[in-house]
Amino acid sequence: MSVKISPSILGANFCNLEQDIKVLEQHAVPVLHLDVMDGHFVPNITFGPDQIKMLRSVTAKMEFDAHLMVTDADSLLARLADAGVDSVTVHGEACPHLYRTLTTIKNLGMKAGVALNPATPIDTIKHVGHMLDRVLIMTVEPGFGGQKFIPGMLDKIAELNQYKQEKSLGFSIQVDGGINLGNIAEVVRHGASDIVIGSSMFNGSLEKNIQDFYAALK
Ligand code: DX5
Ligand code: ZN
Repeated sequence: MSVKISPSILGANFCNLEQDIKVLEQHAVPVLHLDVMDGHFVPNITFGPDQIKMLRSVTAKMEFDAHLMVTDADSLLARLADAGVDSVTVHGEACPHLYRTLTTIKNLGMKAGVALNPATPIDTIKHVGHMLDRVLIMTVEPGFGGQKFIPGMLDKIAELNQYKQEKSLGFSIQVDGGINLGNIAEVVRHGASDIVIGSSMFNGSLEKNIQDFYAALK
């Protein structure tokens, strides 16, 4: 199983974003994780489609993976597609019409994912699993970078992985929150193949951190 590292720019110093994105690109990091927060679904506000469009002008080739922590995802989807987003993950807890929201994402030509908060059961994706490119298991409560990984989420990753195998579903399992050099191998062992890393990627030397994370996966 090939494992993907997805740096979350929430962990970056926003004054250095252009430079950091170039460093990631030079080290062949294929994807940028973009945390969109509305101050309503989560108690924090980040950025939206206009700012993402500016980042798109810095890199043409990195996959832009938007993680929407917002109450009204539907109203953002067309603008995210226009901003150059390749992949959108919405929260199951925030989308009462999940089938429709996922259909809209697909119709806009983007990949679709569903994120599950720590206390949300994996049953949430049961009837839409075949539509998904990704399921995101939150390993912290969403809203802020730099929080501590919730150890009980390892069982949830394994449960989702087992369900995925049983049903021969094609989505990848992404994890997000509190991932560091000490636990990355363990989340992979439990079935995660797409690892979002915020503060542990951008604190200190970005180049060294990229190399250390890739080495930890060998
Ligand atoms: C948290 C965000 C994460 C965040 C992770 O709500 O979804 O993507 O950037 O940051 P760390 O890796 O510091 O927990
Ligand atoms: Zn995220």
